Amino acid sequence: MPRLPKLPAPPLPSALQAPPPRPGEEVTKGGPLEDAKQAGVTVVDWIDERTSLSGVGRWLLFRKVPKGTNWFYTLGSATLFAFLSQAVTGVFLAMYYRPDPAGGAYESIRHVTNDVFLGQFVRGMHKWGSSVMVVLIFLHMGRVFFFGAYKYPRELNWVIGAVLLVLTLVMAFTGYLLPFDQRAYWATIVGVNINGTGPLLGPYLSDFLRGGGEFGATTLSRFYSIHMLIVPGLIVALIGAHLYLVTKLGTTAPPWLKAKERSELLETEV
Ligand code: HEM
Repeated sequence: MPRLPKLPAPPLPSALQAPPPRPGEEVTKGGPLEDAKQAGVTVVDWIDERTSLSGVGRWLLFRKVPKGTNWFYTLGSATLFAFLSQAVTGVFLAMYYRPDPAGGAYESIRHVTNDVFLGQFVRGMHKWGSSVMVVLIFLHMGRVFFFGAYKYPRELNWVIGAVLLVLTLVMAFTGYLLPFDQRAYWATIVGVNINGTGPLLGPYLSDFLRGGGEFGATTLSRFYSIHMLIVPGLIVALIGAHLYLVTKLGTTAPPWLKAKERSELLETEV
């Protein structure tokens, strides 16, 4: 059978075409690849001209890092990655989960684990990921502590970090109840009772967590709402503030590096 002639690709819409070359600029010969590249550049340019977002991107990504920066400085980003992984896997689990204390919660988790495609994998990632995040956040905090990176002017970032740590532990605690099996139920009763022994606020806190004086039907939906709405929202906002401050202040050099003496600042000998 004779081969049909290849038709030329239709031209790009004029809005996506390359702007005319500037005086003295070489005209590149367009091919489909060059056209696709040009279309991408034009779209990004279009957005940037109206938002100036490239400035923000440069400010955020092209920063000077101190000499001696090492692998320990990646622990913050590793914690961030663990959080993002929890967010993504959590969204998929929420598609199946039912916070129903009369057997529905347990049954929905059983269904995810045994019947849903990749359900066991996603649930496993979320369950183990929670421990990974807790371990990483402590390691990151240890790095910041041992490098003295909490000192002026980064005290506020330390305080924000401390709140992030508490919120991460609240996520782990509230998530533990959700499968609503025997272990989850009794472990949470113990946890809530321990909360109740705290000074002054303790009893109010445990009443708030239970949704009353007794561990009842509202406790599960309350834990679910704290776990998937309130605390993740707070964590996202605080991570935003935390990273803003990291970008604005830069990171701290390792403590064993001394600043170079600048000759012009040395006292002249008489
Ligand atoms: C969700 C939890 C957290 C995330 C995603 C996070 C993320 C980050 C990232 C990406 C950095 C940049 C440098 C690095 O990675 O070491 C950083 C720096 C910093 N973090 Fe965190 N962090 C978290 C929790 C904490 C905690 C619990 C503390 C302490 C209580 C803390 C205190 C700090 C401080 C003081 C800096 C500045 C370090 C420096 O100047 O060298 N962060 N964080």
